Amino acid sequence: MRTYSAILVSGGAGFIGSNFIRYLLGPESGFQGLVVNVDALSYAGNLDNLSDLAAGLGGTRYFFERADICDRAAVEDIVARYRIDAVCHLAAESHVDRSIMGPEAFVRTNVLGTFTLLDVVRQAWRGRDGVWFHQVSTDEVYGTLGPSGSFSEASPYAPRSPYSASKAAADHLVMAYHHSYGLPVSVSNCGNNYGPRQFPEKLVPLMILNMLEGKRLPVYGDGRQVRDWLYVDDHARAVWAIMRGGRPGHSYVVGGGNERENLSLVERLADIVAEETGAGAELYRGLITLVPDRPGHDRRYALDSGKIRRELGWEPRMEFDRGLRETVRWYLDNPAWIERVRSGEYRRWLDSNYGWRQGGKA
Ligand code: NAD
Ligand code: TYD
Repeated sequence: MRTYSAILVSGGAGFIGSNFIRYLLGPESGFQGLVVNVDALSYAGNLDNLSDLAAGLGGTRYFFERADICDRAAVEDIVARYRIDAVCHLAAESHVDRSIMGPEAFVRTNVLGTFTLLDVVRQAWRGRDGVWFHQVSTDEVYGTLGPSGSFSEASPYAPRSPYSASKAAADHLVMAYHHSYGLPVSVSNCGNNYGPRQFPEKLVPLMILNMLEGKRLPVYGDGRQVRDWLYVDDHARAVWAIMRGGRPGHSYVVGGGNERENLSLVERLADIVAEETGAGAELYRGLITLVPDRPGHDRRYALDSGKIRRELGWEPRMEFDRGLRETVRWYLDNPAWIERVRSGEYRRWLDSNYGWRQGGKA
């Protein structure tokens, strides 16, 4: 098993990044070194996600550096100053809807940013052993599925949104750096994550928060699109297992094994929120509104995680219904987090009634 002394986590102030850092510095990972969180604090970056941890371990095992991953000089300085020996790369523009409305930021951060990180470590790590670059990617690079079948590491890349195309480009660069320069790399392609601290533009937190505010629940198209849901802590364990034991130049598909149609997921969430708040489920189910579909909406994702199970002994632990309930409880227990997140950019964005939702009443 590999281990590292100083891990650069890009995008550590975001949803998955903050949960990954919490896992890494928690008791289960066995990691003894330090973590440097490099994040530009875009609208989705939130240091509240790590404030308790920063208060305890800040300056000893946890460090925050506000930097844009496209800023080569800043990244070079951080890699040298902390003597970084591993990168877990999560920083990205991550929302499909936004990528359809404004693709440029996705190409910049996801493609140019990944290139910059790769190129800095390629030079900094020349002749050095024991180093590793892990790219956190998505199942969306494989495109869309019909009613049957699932994606595996052998599936061809066929992205269909500016977001997934930019992630696919980044994955190709990561693998190219392995083949051309011998950089030890791995890629994980995971399904839809859910759990605490997710920015409420994504399906699960958007629906929970809209229920709590009595707002309509916008389900795109016929609501029969299928996603494979992965609890964020299970994802963190998978990424760490790959960083320690994965094969260089390999990718690993990571699925939670929870395929659900969007509409039935939102209905189940309505029931759970009702149980947790003591309201009647019909109150929330009654807010479900079918709205015009997302352009180019991928119909179905499903994942075959056989490789990571076989090679690294990873498997998801969280049962889906329990994970949803824990997520709902986290949002109910953290009104201050919600208030801060919902006050700035997010509110302006939602109020703009963007794109294909125009004509609807937010
Ligand atoms: P997120 O949007 O919550 O967080 C992204 C983070 O990156 C934010 O903290 C943001 O400030 C930071 N960032 C953005 N641009 C930056 C830049 N130029 N320089 C430095 N930092 C920058 O995203 P997330 O949901 O936590 O996703 C993390 C990673 O996992 C992404 O690479 C995403 O593609 C991938 N992924 C996410 C999911 C999911 O379901 N959320 C599924 C599969 C893969
Ligand atoms: P999302 O959370 O944006 O993740 P992704 O597009 O990466 O899968 O969306 C999950 C699914 O939920 C996707 O099929 C789109 C759908 N969706 C809605 O129906 N309504 C919404 O308001 C949102 C944000 C998503």
